[in-house]
Amino acid sequence: MSPFLLTRTLPVDATDAALRADVLHGLTRHPKTLPPKWFYDAHGSELFEEITRLPEYYPTRAEREILIDRADEIARASGARTLIELGSGSSEKTRHLLDALPALHSYVPVDVSESALRGAAEALLAERPELSVHALIADFTGGLALPGTPGPRLIAFLGGTIGNLLPDGRAAFLKSVRSLLSPGDALLLGTDLVKEEKVLVAAYDDAAGVTAEFNRNVLRVVNRELGADFDPAGFDHVALWDPGQEWIEMRLRARRAHTVKIPALDLVVGFEAGEEVRTEVSAKFRREGVRAELDTAGLRLDQWWTDSGGRFALSLATAV
Ligand code: SAH
Ligand code: TRP
Repeated sequence: MSPFLLTRTLPVDATDAALRADVLHGLTRHPKTLPPKWFYDAHGSELFEEITRLPEYYPTRAEREILIDRADEIARASGARTLIELGSGSSEKTRHLLDALPALHSYVPVDVSESALRGAAEALLAERPELSVHALIADFTGGLALPGTPGPRLIAFLGGTIGNLLPDGRAAFLKSVRSLLSPGDALLLGTDLVKEEKVLVAAYDDAAGVTAEFNRNVLRVVNRELGADFDPAGFDHVALWDPGQEWIEMRLRARRAHTVKIPALDLVVGFEAGEEVRTEVSAKFRREGVRAELDTAGLRLDQWWTDSGGRFALSLATAV
């Protein structure tokens, strides 16, 4: 079996310092915010996998349909010898791509969740023992240092995760991806599409309450890492469609007035009854918007594929 390498490009204490800075900044401003990358501890990664199987959460199924239909086309167009996947999670859908790339030399999954990376690598190597898997524990927004694996490279960013970045962050992110691409390399980008409000809201506010638990998980992470005393049950999960921004906004709404102590920050935070913390946006896209954002970053949209229901899109782009 090829060796499995796991590289931590974020020192453990850098993660800690970043969490402290984000929580201090986010909870001392109005409206309060908490940034989404802290959802994904081991429990959060498991909850996300549960979300992908919910009847209301269509994006995973829609994207999988496109990957199954287009894997051969993507493989031929890219001729990739290295597949780099940002925010790879369980790498479950990626199998369809890996199966279509028999000459692939290296798979480089990149994620902040060590548990997700380990689980994904174990499952993959059981099926493809000859594949070299070099996992990176890294923040994809932080300027990536990629291992020196053979080209051409295909960088995949699936799941609509790009929609979790705010517009400025998206522009910076796409520029940084552009800087990683050499001639012959390509970007495969998954974006969820604008659709009926009812369908969108249900995908982020499921009947079984799994998304609500996922949203509240960020409070558990802050409790564990910073010694805070948030009562997750004291917050309601809120998912709203913002038609101007064309994004779903996730919030946690305090049920009653109370204070929360965060000893590691020497901070006491007051909440009014009904006060909301913004935890996440999930932007939805249209073809022309994706084309324009790629264009601004120096990327050309070469292919645009949607599922049969027109719910989700995969774009293939190359550097101009
Ligand atoms: N690609 C998978 C998972 C999507 S969920 C799918 O399509 O189903 C988003 C993933 O991105 C999670 O695994 C999360 O841990 C990871 N993630 C979120 N923010 C990140 C960041 N800033 N840097 C690296 N990984 C991140
Ligand atoms: N990238 C996923 C999305 O935007 C992440 C996600 C799904 C999510 N459900 C969520 C993030 C609920 C926060 C809360 O669809």
